[in-house]
This record gives sequence, structure tokens and C-alpha cells, in this order.
Amino acid sequence: MRRRLTPPFFCLFFKLVDALSCSTTTGGSCCSPTNGIVLLSQQWYEGLGPSDYFTMHGLWPNMCNGGRTPKKGCDPSRRYGNLDPILRRNQSLYDDMSTYWPSFNGEDRNAEFWSHEWITHGTCITTLERQCFSNFQEYQDLFTYFNTALELYQQYNLYAVLSDANIIPGGSYSLDQFESAVRAYTGFMPLITCKEGSKLDEIRIYFKVRNGNHYEPINSTARSSCSRTRRIEYPVK
Ligand SMILES: *[C@@H]1O[C@H](CO)[C@@H](O)[C@H](O)[C@H]1NC(C)=O
Ligand SMILES: *[C@@H]1O[C@H](CO)[C@@H](O)[C@H](O)[C@H]1NC(C)=O
Repeated sequence: MRRRLTPPFFCLFFKLVDALSCSTTTGGSCCSPTNGIVLLSQQWYEGLGPSDYFTMHGLWPNMCNGGRTPKKGCDPSRRYGNLDPILRRNQSLYDDMSTYWPSFNGEDRNAEFWSHEWITHGTCITTLERQCFSNFQEYQDLFTYFNTALELYQQYNLYAVLSDANIIPGGSYSLDQFESAVRAYTGFMPLITCKEGSKLDEIRIYFKVRNGNHYEPINSTARSSCSRTRRIEYPVK
């Protein structure tokens, strides 16, 4: 029988060296996400969610070369089916997700949206694989994914960040103004995306992960889809 070091013990060594994802010393998939550039994507969608909050789109691990993980996700064995009854086991998480992570297809499609985010992106976060938990409880990977995503969402409250820079719904602002406002908070360049020409769509913050679970902002690795010369509309919702 092959003896294995259990992941938490194994990772302890790497914690001591303070390893950042996408570096050579990160110690393997349980200690640090192998797809080590992680995006927090928040959307501004008229009619969706509270009027003074962006809503969550997702927490997306990208590969270290900036490429995307497979469209079908990374682990078909962890497609958990209908997430609605599962997530209701934590009512406070379920309520937060219903408020801040709604589907633009309507409330009855929320669980389908969450399931898509979990299968496509959550299963590609290697630190959430079952063997990475010392005493894995059913759905612990799933709950950890959604709880982590919502903690980051609360920490990077983009409505508040923008309003601190006097960027308020109902106005239009340059791409540079949006980028500067977010940089003033995170220290790094976000990705701003536009729809319908020059309407604000999403703001994405890029991270590397230190010691498996500490998210540190980095510069965006992609180009904005918004015009640098036209003003971007930030509609009231
Ligand atoms: C339930 O979700 C909340 C977040 O809404 C989280 O703080 C808490 O740790 C979760 N409880 C369990 C048992 O996972
Ligand atoms: C991040 O981007 C800003 C603006 O483009 C640049 O000035 C800065 O040097 C970049 N930081 C790093 C660490 O690459």
C-alpha cells in the first residue's frame, strides 16, 4: 500500500515559503490552485438585484498562461444536479445568493445559473478537490466555492468603490475613470466590459492566490471591450 502525506500537512511546508499561485514553488494542486489566475466577475444589469449593488456573475479560475479552463468544467463526477435543495441546507448562504447572485433569466432559473458556475468554474479550482479536505463532508467543495465567492464579492463592493470616486448610476464616465476608481481601491488594473456599444456590463478583478486561500489582486491580463474615447453609460437600475 502506498503511503501518502495528507494535503494539509503537505501544504504546511509550502505555507511557510509563502507561495503565490502560478509560481514554481506552490506545491501542487491541493496547496495552491493550478489554474492560478482567478477572476471575480460582477455584473451591472438593469432590473437585476438591489439598485445599489453589482450582482455576482462568478469566480473563475483561469490557467496561468491566461487561457480559460475547459467549457465543460474539470470534473464531471462533481456535477451535483439540482443545486436548489442542496444550497437551501445553508439558508443564510441561500438567501445571500438569491439576493446578490441572481440569474438574469428570472428567479426560477437561479439554481441553473449557480450550477453552471459551479460545473464550469468551481470544479476547476484544484484546491477544492475532495482529497484536499482532511475530512471531506458531502458538498463541502460546493459550499466552500460559493462562500468564498461571496466573501470576495463583499470585500470588493464595486458600487461602493465607484461611488467613493463620485461615479454614480445615471451618469456616464470614461473608461479611464472606471479603471482609476477600481485601481484606487485594489491597487491593480481591473477589466471593464461593455455591452450595446458603450453601456457598462461587467467589472472583473484578477487575483493570484497565496497559500491556497488568500486572494491578492493583480493587473488584468485582458483588454477592455469598451471604447477608450466614448463615455460609458452607467444606468440607474
Ligand atoms: C453558511 O453560509 C454563511 C454565509 O452566508 C457562512 O458564513 C457559514 O459559514 C455557512 N455555514 C456553514 C455550516 O457552512
Ligand atoms: C499594473 O498596471 C499599471 C497600469 O497599466 C502599471 O502602471 C503597473 O506597473 C502594473 N503593475 C504591475 C505589477 O505589472
